[in-house]
Amino acid sequence: MRVMIFGGSGLLGQALMHEWNEDEVVGLSSRDVDIRDKEQVNEKVQNSHADWIVLAAAYTDVDGCESNRELAFAVNRDGAVNVAEAAQRSGAKLLFLSSDYVFDGKKTSAYETGDTRNPLGVYGCSKAEAEVRLLELLPDCCIARTSWLFGTGGKCFPDTILKLTATRPVLDVVNDQRGCPTYSVDLARAIMQLCRKGARGIVHATNAGSCTWFEFAREIVRQAGLTPEVRPVSTQQMSRPAARPANSVLSSSSLQALGITMPSWRDSVARYLRERKN
Ligand SMILES: NC(=O)c1ccc[n+]([C@@H]2O[C@H](COP(=O)([O-])OP(=O)(O)OC[C@H]3O[C@@H](n4cnc5c(N)ncnc54)[C@H](OP(=O)(O)O)[C@@H]3O)[C@@H](O)[C@H]2O)c1
Repeated sequence: MRVMIFGGSGLLGQALMHEWNEDEVVGLSSRDVDIRDKEQVNEKVQNSHADWIVLAAAYTDVDGCESNRELAFAVNRDGAVNVAEAAQRSGAKLLFLSSDYVFDGKKTSAYETGDTRNPLGVYGCSKAEAEVRLLELLPDCCIARTSWLFGTGGKCFPDTILKLTATRPVLDVVNDQRGCPTYSVDLARAIMQLCRKGARGIVHATNAGSCTWFEFAREIVRQAGLTPEVRPVSTQQMSRPAARPANSVLSSSSLQALGITMPSWRDSVARYLRERKN
């Protein structure tokens, strides 16, 4: 199988490049191709003869999207459409990475794949609109929604927490947003399986279990054997440009239906800390 990864230099992309075995895999960064450029995208895709395209490229700065609305839609929605159109022309299958932020967080239980999208911010809106356009263009594509991604390949929440512990005896962390932390290595393995199984439609792919950002931070500090105190605070106390869903827990039933399971987020924190140390 030939695989082309847009966003191969990102947090998830690096894990995909590292974990994907047996197949012929090519990863592209924004320097190789800008997904906003339809012609460039088309040329890359046609020349690749890829069986699968994994679209992990995105403008992922959730707060930055609020002040750069045009860029968010140009990359996350229109760029995704460019890749989908090229995939359609070449006959390649497409797996698109989407986000828990397509939901408003008002549900009191885990989100299922068929729940109504109602994003709160520009980033979520750009992803939600991309999902709709892609499903119209390529009804057989696979949309893998994930959440709270972390890994050693770049900036992420655990890395920020660990760096802060070096200078601060007390860390205030939001305790009224709940979600599913997801280790890039585990997500990469799940994506590889989704492609091999020929998955289609919307799938939720996260580590098992859920927590608040506060609980996540407390576990990182505990497992790292560090001393700083982690204190729970409210979203209101930590004002940020983008509104975030209070509950963005994604149900694992769609993934389980395909016979794929992912480890618990606590287990993934332990493996992340080991990988980071090495
Ligand atoms: N991070 C999360 O918590 C999270 C949560 C839910 C869903 N997701 C989704 O998961 C996917 C992977 O996220 P990530 O955290 O791995 O992203 P990331 O680390 O921010 O990496 C983004 C990737 O996209 C590429 N890129 C950005 N703009 C581009 C453009 N105009 N043309 C071509 N490539 C471009 C970047 O290339 P350069 O390196 O050259 O800049 C990089 O490879 C994304 O679709 C994201 O929306 C992420």
